[in-house]
Amino acid sequence: MPAASRAASSTELLAALRRASDADGFLPFDRFEEIALYEPRLGYYERPGVALGTEGDFYTAAHVHPLFAATLATRLLQERERNGASATFRIVELGPGDGTLALGILDVFSRELPDDARLDYVLVEPSPTLRDRGLKALADHPLRDRVRVAASLGADGPFVGVVVANEVLDAQPARRLVRRGGAWAELGARWNGERFVESEGPLSGPVPDALFADAPEGGVVEVSPRAEALVREVSDFLERGAAVFLDYGASTTDLVLGHRHGTLQAIRGHEVLTDPFADPGTADLSVFVDFDRVRAAARRGGLRERACSSQAEALVRWGFEERLRAAVAKAPTPEAEVRLRLAAKNLLFGFGNFLVLELEAGPTT
Ligand SMILES: C[S@@+](CC[C@H](N)C(=O)[O-])C[C@H]1O[C@@H](n2cnc3c(N)ncnc32)[C@H](O)[C@@H]1O
Repeated sequence: MPAASRAASSTELLAALRRASDADGFLPFDRFEEIALYEPRLGYYERPGVALGTEGDFYTAAHVHPLFAATLATRLLQERERNGASATFRIVELGPGDGTLALGILDVFSRELPDDARLDYVLVEPSPTLRDRGLKALADHPLRDRVRVAASLGADGPFVGVVVANEVLDAQPARRLVRRGGAWAELGARWNGERFVESEGPLSGPVPDALFADAPEGGVVEVSPRAEALVREVSDFLERGAAVFLDYGASTTDLVLGHRHGTLQAIRGHEVLTDPFADPGTADLSVFVDFDRVRAAARRGGLRERACSSQAEALVRWGFEERLRAAVAKAPTPEAEVRLRLAAKNLLFGFGNFLVLELEAGPTT
């Protein structure tokens, strides 16, 4: 039986969702998502069983091939040069998940950083389950002693370095709003006596601004103040350096006009579920990032935008071709070479609706 049709929500998680609902039984979507993904011990990312990667529910570019991490590592090494190679080289990875990306980056660093480089690789992972899994994945790595865990990006105060976040913004709880008779209603969930179903309710807060004036009747828009706050947090603590956000998303206009029903997706066992409200806590939930709003949050926080592009453009900009050539030259068999080229194709062209935002902080150089 495929994993997608097997799971059932824990009764405790369902109870937590019902407790969070208002007197009329309505739960705004951002609260539903927050509990379904992050409720301690019970939420999707918090459960012992959470599984990323090809064997799990979904994979990210980090799981496709180490070429992705290697190319990103090239970008990080450029930043080290820019900030002065003798300074501590701090990388703060937000949402490292199972540690696959960190492992790939550290592999490159162990080969390409001088022995005396002062590396400080910081994992900021709110899920204790994934944090343990990430640390386990790195346990035998030669650079393990340069890796540490922090409770938040700003736990040690302002810093110089690079922040990396792959598929973290789209995992932030988002509000979903629907246009009704020229006004907005909140989308969320409601318990129907047996299960949660999609429902409309009163607005849970102000509608952010007039960006969505073009939204058609019945159109759904999604906004994540939490994703914007995460970018704002970067601007608060990153004194000098760069931040790289890689995520599913688009501009406001593309989202409003190109995704009339919104972008909410529930994924389990690599299958998109037809009902994202069925069996909360057993599937990943995400909505596309509104990159215009995230970019505006970065600007307000004083971060400069260096680039905002497709993943293919970003990888090529960072030296993908050279990394690929080097890997092909070392491929042990023709079959391994074909696999490598297929993975390269997937990394370049398999991530549609994906953007890479590069931000800078500190004096211009
Ligand atoms: C879709 S997974 C991506 C994992 C990993 N970056 C990768 O590329 O495989 C999202 C991750 O972000 C983490 N996360 C969610 N909210 C976060 C936050 N506010 N700060 C840091 N990590 C967060 C989740 O626990 C999860 O590990």
